Amino acid sequence: MMRTSAPIEPAASFLYRGLLRRASFLSEAEAVHARVVALAEAAGRARALREAVGRLFRFRHPALARTVLGIRFSNPVGLAAGFDKDGRLVEIAGSLGFGFLEVGSVSARPWKGNPRPRLFRLPADRALVNRVGLPSEGAEVVAARLASSRREVPVGVNLVKTADPSILGDRAIDDFLDSYRVLAPIADWIVLNVSCPNTADGRTFEDERALAELLAAIEDVSRGFRDNCRPPLLVKFSADLAPEEVERRVELSLARGVRGFVLANSSLARPARLATPEREIERIGRGGLTGKPILDRVLELVGAARRVAGPDAVVVGVGGVMGPADAARLCAAGADLDEVSTGLVYEGPGLPARINRELAKR
Ligand SMILES: Cc1cc2nc3c(=O)[nH]c(=O)nc-3n(C[C@H](O)[C@H](O)[C@H](O)COP(=O)(O)O)c2cc1C
Repeated sequence: MMRTSAPIEPAASFLYRGLLRRASFLSEAEAVHARVVALAEAAGRARALREAVGRLFRFRHPALARTVLGIRFSNPVGLAAGFDKDGRLVEIAGSLGFGFLEVGSVSARPWKGNPRPRLFRLPADRALVNRVGLPSEGAEVVAARLASSRREVPVGVNLVKTADPSILGDRAIDDFLDSYRVLAPIADWIVLNVSCPNTADGRTFEDERALAELLAAIEDVSRGFRDNCRPPLLVKFSADLAPEEVERRVELSLARGVRGFVLANSSLARPARLATPEREIERIGRGGLTGKPILDRVLELVGAARRVAGPDAVVVGVGGVMGPADAARLCAAGADLDEVSTGLVYEGPGLPARINRELAKR
């Protein structure tokens, strides 16, 4: 009989929520994240460790497998962009129970991001606020790392314009194209993170005209690629767009060869009913809100994208998934695949196995 279990997952989740989470919350959030990535990267390099991690955290079941974008996924739960910005977890992602990995956002040029602290926890809301500012080692470095990594699961690469505020307008499109040329040939799919400014007044590539121009430029460049070097293209929108705004952008993207949509990126808005005291929210200041408070909005946007995109386009749902019930709601709203990020901070590394075990039962 096939062995499906990730035997340690219930104990690991219990231990994480009861002990490790409290201990890790005593340190700066980004410092903890950096340590976790370094540890996971090291484990990924050593075969014995990788296999041990896989025995503990990987949950396999034939009912979880699916083919999306012509790519075989062993399960539908992926690691969202932002967790592995520079492609360090490619070798361990599958052993940790993920069905796929979205690396990035990667920018054409290296960029340091904003001064720290720039990542904050809101435990009462099971949320985070971040203004990390798109740090990236740059497309060339990430491409070299991906090319030399053994892939356990399909790997999408999320691209963003270099966050240098002096790169605007046509130069912003050229910057996107530079990273596309370097990373498209080695990515299983490409996601364009379009919630980045491309005008001096802060308008982003989510502006309909800017989006249309960017997609036309990408189409032009990709025509020069051989078929097997032209990966499917997806676009990721922010949680701050209204459902009708998503619908219009989905329509115009589909007309320009886009195969799917990732919904959604973080939200700059602060919902009225947050449990975190207002004083604390003011102290933290600006940044993108992620985690539980954005789930309802994400469900709406996934539904809007699916309505317009029809059954053929791909919808990846991300935002506020803390457990199997949330993942099931995303599927019901129309997502083919889902991703987690903030949920890992609150639920621990057993989250993908826990979601997959329940999904397999359903
Ligand atoms: C610290 C942090 C950094 C992120 N960086 C990126 C990024 O570089 N590119 C991107 O497309 N999304 C980024 N995201 C957004 C996530 O991919 C995801 O869309 C969002 O966090 C909602 O999912 P969650 O509620 O499960 O965290 C980031 C999120 C966090 C918390």
